[in-house]
Amino acid sequence: MKSNPQQQQAHHVLYTQSQIHDCVSQLAGQIRTAYTSFDDLVVIVLLMGAKRFADDLLAALGQPVSAEYLRAKSYHDSHQSSGTVHVEGHVHQPLRGKRVLLIDDIYDTGITLKFMLDYLRQFQPAEIKTCVLLEKQCPHHETVAIDFLGLPVPDVFVVGYGLDYREQYRELPFIAELTLDGN
Ligand code: IMP
Ligand code: MG
Repeated sequence: MKSNPQQQQAHHVLYTQSQIHDCVSQLAGQIRTAYTSFDDLVVIVLLMGAKRFADDLLAALGQPVSAEYLRAKSYHDSHQSSGTVHVEGHVHQPLRGKRVLLIDDIYDTGITLKFMLDYLRQFQPAEIKTCVLLEKQCPHHETVAIDFLGLPVPDVFVVGYGLDYREQYRELPFIAELTLDGN
């Protein structure tokens, strides 16, 4: 599968499956405490990176919640942010007057989260909160308030638990730094 030696990559594990599980449980607890009712809440999950996180988080919440899925593409087959965001898909219900919880995988430059918050505001929800699994320890291009934040990661490219590099490594149960062999 990894026949080209120049493409071989190794993993340096940053968070194990069990550490991620604990983090997701804690976030679910914080969210349960913050929302007394889930009736007017719409969870918006950013595909693909946050899908696995959101699945586990919503399961841990143990409450019926309305979830919608949008694809926000800011990386185009590379590990550098393109600086532009494209939204694919649409929300299948009115957001006007609802409470929105936006779920993403990682706060890196912040361009995606900032763009998505502006995008969702046009539908006039009563409020938008954010829940993000990872925060990269780097200067963010856009400053975004994260209401429910999971774990810090160093300023490296990370994969696993839904996060990919060129559509690879999403299936890893842990979160790891992507390192090129020989580096
Ligand atoms: P942004 O730079 O904060 O706009 O990040 C946008 C998106 O890029 C995130 O939602 C991720 O899907 C992806 N991304 C950013 N940093 C990483 C990384 O280290 N590994 C994998 N995906 C990343
Ligand atoms: Mg993403």
